[in-house]
Formats: sequence, C-alpha cells, structure tokens
Amino acid sequence: MKPSIFSGVQPSGNLTIGNYIGAISQWVEMQKDYNCLFSVVDYHAITVKQNSDELRKKILEVTKIYLAAGIDLNNSIIFQQSMVAAHTELAWIFNCYGARIADLNKMTQFKDKAGKNQESVSIGLYDYPVLMAADILLYDTDIVPVGEDQQQHVELARDIARRFNNEFGNTFKIPQSVIRKEGARIMSLLDPTKKMSKSDENSNSYIALLDDIEAAKKKIMRAVTDSGSEIIYDPKERPAISNLLTIYAQLGGRQIPRLVKDYTGKGYGEFKKDLAEVVAKFLTGFQKRYYALSDKEVNKILEAGAKKVEKMAAEKMEKVRKVIGVR
Ligand code: TYM
Repeated sequence: MKPSIFSGVQPSGNLTIGNYIGAISQWVEMQKDYNCLFSVVDYHAITVKQNSDELRKKILEVTKIYLAAGIDLNNSIIFQQSMVAAHTELAWIFNCYGARIADLNKMTQFKDKAGKNQESVSIGLYDYPVLMAADILLYDTDIVPVGEDQQQHVELARDIARRFNNEFGNTFKIPQSVIRKEGARIMSLLDPTKKMSKSDENSNSYIALLDDIEAAKKKIMRAVTDSGSEIIYDPKERPAISNLLTIYAQLGGRQIPRLVKDYTGKGYGEFKKDLAEVVAKFLTGFQKRYYALSDKEVNKILEAGAKKVEKMAAEKMEKVRKVIGVR
C-alpha cells in the first residue's frame, strides 16, 4: 500500500503562481508515489462572504487548474469538499473533542485575516483550522503537502488527532506536513515582506494563473526591487530579488545558484525581462491546457471523485460515532 496524501485549495480569489509553486506543483511531483486526494475546499471558502454564482464558477475553475497543472486522475482523486458531508460532521465532533479555544487563539492566519475585527468576523473563520483537521484526518492521511502558511494548521490537526486517540483509543493517523525547500512562501510583487495572496486587493501584487499574458509580463516588469543592483540570493537582505529568483527557478527549471551565476554583472532590467518571458511561457502552456477543459467533463470528474471518497469517509465516521457513543 502506498502512503496517502491529502491537500486542497479554497475556491476563492484568483489562484496565483504562489498556490501553484507552493502547493499544486508539489502534488504533481509526488502523485505517482502516493494515494492522493485533492479537494476543492468550498466550505473553507464560505468562511468569508462569497457571491453564490461566483462560487459555483470558482469550484469548476479550481478543478480545471488542478487538471491543467498535471494532476492525473490515474493517480489521484479530485473531489469537492461539500459533496462529502462527513467533513463537516467530523469538524463538529472535533469542536467538542480535541480542539480548544487556546489553540485557535494562536492561529496567525486568523489574526491576520480578522485584523481588528476579531469580534465581528464569522465563527467559521475562527473555526476553519478544525474543518481542515477533519479534511486531513478523515482519510488516514500520511502527508499534507502545503505552502508554509498552512503548516500551523497541520500542526493543529496532529494535536487534535493525538488528543482524540488518547481519549478514545487509536482512531486517527498522525499526519505530517511537507513544504518545499524553496518556494514554500512566494512573496507579493509589490511588498516582499508580505505573502503573495490570491485575495490581495491589488492585483499587481500577484500573477494569477489565468492572468492575461501581456498583463502578467507587465506585473513582473513593475515588481519592486531592492536597493542595490546585483542579482544575488539573500532573502533577509534582498527579499525582492530573492523572491523573483525563486519564481524564476521554479517556473523556468534553472536552479538559483545557476541563475545567480548566469546573471553576474547583469542588471535588474535584463533579469526581469527574461523572467517575464519565463512566466509568459509557463502561463501560455498552462492556459492552453486549462481552456481545453469543459465544465461538463469537470462536473463529471467531481461527481465521480465524491463517490470514491465517500466510502472511505463513511467507514471512518462509523468508527468515530461508535467510540464517542452516539451509536
Ligand atoms: P489556500 O487556498 O489559501 O492555499 C492553497 C495552497 O497554496 C499555498 N499557498 C502558497 N504557497 C507558497 N507561496 C504563497 N504565496 C502561497 N499562497 C498560498 C497554501 O499554503 C496552500 O497549500 N486551508 C487551506 C486549504 C485547505 C487544506 C485542507 C490544505 C483546507 N483543508 C487540508 C491542506 C489540507 C487554504 O486556505 O489554502
């Protein structure tokens, strides 16, 4: 039996090359060696307000992005979270057994997202890591490949599993997160101290996977750079050029030390022009695959995926309901 992977992306905002580099491209590389479940986590997206027509479209969009990126249905199952009711059921049980308010109060993503409005945001936004724990633990997941910002949430899933197992006997596998050595945190093009985010209000801060190619090239040319002019990799002292080097390496398939060597004595202008071409080439291929997919076939894929995972989820839930005493 191969070990298993679970991961997912929220169908909200415009998926960026950050999502691709940090998460989805890792899944593609790993999928042959694992049993993989990749979910479109729509019940996570509604933790902040969504337009319902827009949400329906985004669910199909994210599914197509998984496929265009190279998720292979011979190795992996793609499914929509809300089609499998066990996720929310298990999240409720973890709300009662395993998750504590003190844990959730520590979540940096909640603090960032809620900002000064901590009292007025939805309870869902606060509780979201518990739903994420349910996603992961429901399927005896071994590995959770994610970007760096999700590591804290995977830690919480581990804590919840341990506490539940202590109380009720061995019920859940303890999962592990896996993050890239380079590219686990792609930064904003306008502020290299901030994560590149698909929900950023300023679209010049990110390259979306479905961006117009010419617009994407302009965004690279406009990306902020550090003071100084050398092409060197030093995330602390030169965060902007280091971020651009990371993007170049990940999308262009040339390692950072090699790039630094190749650009010795050359300026930011030339580097950015070449990077803009690398990004354009990547997006062109990606979008060709994306636009070849129809809504109809994608809907079928999601339905088939839900059917497959439902069985696994039902078995685990039967066990869980029994040990807690509701059956
Ligand atoms: P989400 O939708 O915010 O992001 C999806 C994935 O993309 C990664 N990511 C990045 N990686 C590198 N650089 C960036 N700038 C960047 N921005 C985003 C994220 O780390 C993530 O891996 N809660 C999750 C979704 C989720 C999930 C799960 C993940 C729900 N249940 C179970 C794994 C397992 C989220 O909101 O990701």
